[in-house]
Amino acid sequence: MNIGIIGAGQVAQAFAHKAIGAGHTVILSSRRGPDNLAALVEGLGPSATAATPAKVAENPVVLLAVPWPEVDAALRSLPTWHGQILIDATNGFGENGLVDFDDGSSSETVAALAPGAHVVKAMNSLFMANFALEPISDGFRRVVFVAGDDSAAKTEVADLFESFGFASIDLGTLRKGGRMQAVGSTLAGHDFFLPWPAPRSFPAFNGER
Ligand SMILES: NC(=O)c1ccc[n+]([C@@H]2O[C@H](COP(=O)([O-])OP(=O)(O)OC[C@H]3O[C@@H](n4cnc5c(N)ncnc54)[C@H](OP(=O)(O)O)[C@@H]3O)[C@@H](O)[C@H]2O)c1
Repeated sequence: MNIGIIGAGQVAQAFAHKAIGAGHTVILSSRRGPDNLAALVEGLGPSATAATPAKVAENPVVLLAVPWPEVDAALRSLPTWHGQILIDATNGFGENGLVDFDDGSSSETVAALAPGAHVVKAMNSLFMANFALEPISDGFRRVVFVAGDDSAAKTEVADLFESFGFASIDLGTLRKGGRMQAVGSTLAGHDFFLPWPAPRSFPAFNGER
């Protein structure tokens, strides 16, 4: 699959390595233009290219990996979305710390800035140093949380991360699930592992050890 990436920093590169390893093709972009990404693209190998953010956004799956203060400018510069999946890996914090989204979530803001895209929040709760590690260890898989309002898009993103070797956990809607995995939440910054294939249900804890 061709996957566009808006951003070419830590998150973009960690994702690109995993995607290429799973047989996908990535197209990276940044503020400074494709020519500035020549060395990065060369290092990633023949499955990576660079383009403008507008070109990148034409792909069926697009990863958003820019700092929160740049999200608005990055998304407003793009052509109209027509049903592509937008994976939101961003975290809502800037120079003044955590951004207050009241009862909403940062990914709802992203979705409002990308009408026509199916936004799925994922990856943001993991430190990239950990995401970059081998996701499978002793029969357990590192978890990537997904949240979104479109079930088909969420399944596709879960399948994508599973193709990289991760386990996925669906946290629900962009609002509820997005808040659960947002920066500052209890899930954020922690590594979770699941036996894989995951059991359909976990035995109820009966108080005995
Ligand atoms: N680093 C982590 O461990 C981690 C983990 C989870 C989530 N996150 C979140 O993921 C997002 C990206 O983090 P990062 O660590 O990858 O940041 P980063 O290393 O600073 O890279 C940011 C990238 O975004 C590009 N960019 C900035 N503004 C842009 C615009 N308007 N249009 C297109 N590209 C633009 C930059 O390009 P230029 O260099 O040309 O400006 C740069 O390539 C942030 O929201 C962060 O909170 C980070």
